[in-house]
Amino acid sequence: MKKIIVASIAAMAVSGALMAGINPATCAGCHGAHFEKHALGVSHIVADMTHKEIEKALIGYKDGTYKKPVPAMAGVMKGQVARYSDAELKALAQKIGK
Ligand code: HEC
Repeated sequence: MKKIIVASIAAMAVSGALMAGINPATCAGCHGAHFEKHALGVSHIVADMTHKEIEKALIGYKDGTYKKPVPAMAGVMKGQVARYSDAELKALAQKIGK
């Protein structure tokens, strides 16, 4: 019984995390914990970008219309954002940048 309760609490925690949207920690390896780095030495500093610019970039990498600043590197970001919906990407764009 106790095990079942623990398991259902764990399941709730997982779905809660999914509901909360994209975890920016998945971006930290390249962009820095506060988006303060040039990812792989090429990207702009995302912390300095506006919410709107970030939204355009994230959705654009996904649909292939945004390939900046280095076109050959856009595939790296496509791999990061392809699994998310536009709504999730928009919500994330509101949480980071300025
Ligand atoms: C494997 C490394 C890596 C990870 C992880 C990563 N990025 Fe990026 N990101 C890059 C690179 C490289 C670029 C530049 C792409 C280009 O030049 O075409 C970039 C560019 C961007 C840009 C546009 C910057 C510009 O210069 O216009 C945004 C916004 C961004 N990333 C957000 C994110 C977010 C949000 C996440 C997490 C969901 C994330 N990135 C995860 C490597 C990464």
